[in-house]
Amino acid sequence: MRIPIIAGNWKMNKTIEEAIQLVKEIKSNLKDGVETVVCVPFTALSEVKKEISGTKLKLGAQNMHWEESGAFTGEISPLMLKEIGVDFCIIGHSERRQYFGETDEMVNRKIKSALKHGISPIVCVGETLEQREANIEKKVVETQILKAFDGIVAEEVEKIVIAYEPIWAIGTGKTATKEEANEIIAFIRKIIMNKYQQEISDKVRIQYGGSVKPDNITDIMNQSDIDGALVGGASLKPEEFIKLVSF
Ligand code: 13P
Repeated sequence: MRIPIIAGNWKMNKTIEEAIQLVKEIKSNLKDGVETVVCVPFTALSEVKKEISGTKLKLGAQNMHWEESGAFTGEISPLMLKEIGVDFCIIGHSERRQYFGETDEMVNRKIKSALKHGISPIVCVGETLEQREANIEKKVVETQILKAFDGIVAEEVEKIVIAYEPIWAIGTGKTATKEEANEIIAFIRKIIMNKYQQEISDKVRIQYGGSVKPDNITDIMNQSDIDGALVGGASLKPEEFIKLVSF
């Protein structure tokens, strides 16, 4: 049985004070049987960690470097995240690939480093609108997955969460239909099965992300292969995120 996982990606939003306010509301509205994660800006991680202590709400970062320390101005290392007690880290979000030049190789290094430090990666993959219109979305996603998982041993795979986020559905209000999302997510599970084995692919959790809202969450979560959601905009409003968690 795969435990559903709903994660909020706050992106570059919320001061520390605002972050505390938001988690106060979320933490008192958690639902049993659903793993709930807030991926908050680096600046708010420590304070949010204190605020959620003793609750089941999990903490995530949105990015990390693969090295433990060194001359990498402006970067945050896995040791720094570990010290705070971060459970998850989003890796390879399309905004990082698009605006900050993250490559599949960098994503792979970050995944390995996160696993080494006991942080569960939430690995993002997804195609652009152009790629979907050219009918190459499966090829694109397959390449991203195979490069991301290069050198990852079978025992580590179930610690990784995959998020399928078609870029054309992020922040646009345009969601992939539930069937479209499920088709690609089932395809991702098949790639994992072929690379490892069915026992592993049955365990790996795969989320959908892209304009997930209270009015489409039920349909999304009812799909056979979708195990959760990675939510941007709707995770910033407590009333909406709480509804998502109780899909
Ligand atoms: P939206 O939910 O705002 O479309 O963002 C999705 C996303 O990028 C989550 O990582």
